[in-house]
Amino acid sequence: MKFFIDTANLNQIREAKDLGILDGVTTNPSLMAKEGITGTENVMKHYKDICDIVGSGDVSAEVISTDFEGMIEEGKRLAAIDPNIVVKVPMIKDGIKAISWFTANGIRTNCTLVFSAGQAILAAKAGATYLSPFIGRVDDISWDGMDLISQISHIYSMQGFETQILAASVRNPLHIVKSAEAGAHVVTCPLDAILGLLNHPLTDIGLAKFLADHKKANG
Ligand code: G3P
Repeated sequence: MKFFIDTANLNQIREAKDLGILDGVTTNPSLMAKEGITGTENVMKHYKDICDIVGSGDVSAEVISTDFEGMIEEGKRLAAIDPNIVVKVPMIKDGIKAISWFTANGIRTNCTLVFSAGQAILAAKAGATYLSPFIGRVDDISWDGMDLISQISHIYSMQGFETQILAASVRNPLHIVKSAEAGAHVVTCPLDAILGLLNHPLTDIGLAKFLADHKKANG
């Protein structure tokens, strides 16, 4: 399973990269706004900066347009920033049309705002490279985000679809573990959720004992 970080914050991207486990980055307009990145020129430069930090990993850059022509123009501009840019397209009718066009023209895509297996089938038929089911937001309305990942995983493997399931809207370490179990190909997470995987009290107790024993024996 690939690990992406879900942020536009360059320091957090560097921190995840330094761990040696980072396979890519996902962003969205909310995450860009949170970092205060506004205006086309600044947005384009920020995506380039992210690509330079990530190196060979994929970086999802989302279109703002909601009509076919607008998405194509924007997507072409975004894809030209760096070979690792993946154009993120919302799960709407024109979005599916745009994903089909991008697929036919060799531009990779991430279909976002996915909340059902039916949407997942459409995106795969259109040739999306990645599919982003928002598991946290499904949990927020007291449905089960993980059931959605399992269902899509089952359908994709039964039907031989090559679209990669990218579990998104991840909120905690358990989401990461359960996504791996449910067959997600990629999980995109906030830095805190990734770092949360490190924690276990027995690791801390065990390490303290090893160090104390070493000190006792060696002075
Ligand atoms: O990957 C999608 C993500 O950024 C949305 O997360 O926590 O706003 O539902 P959240």
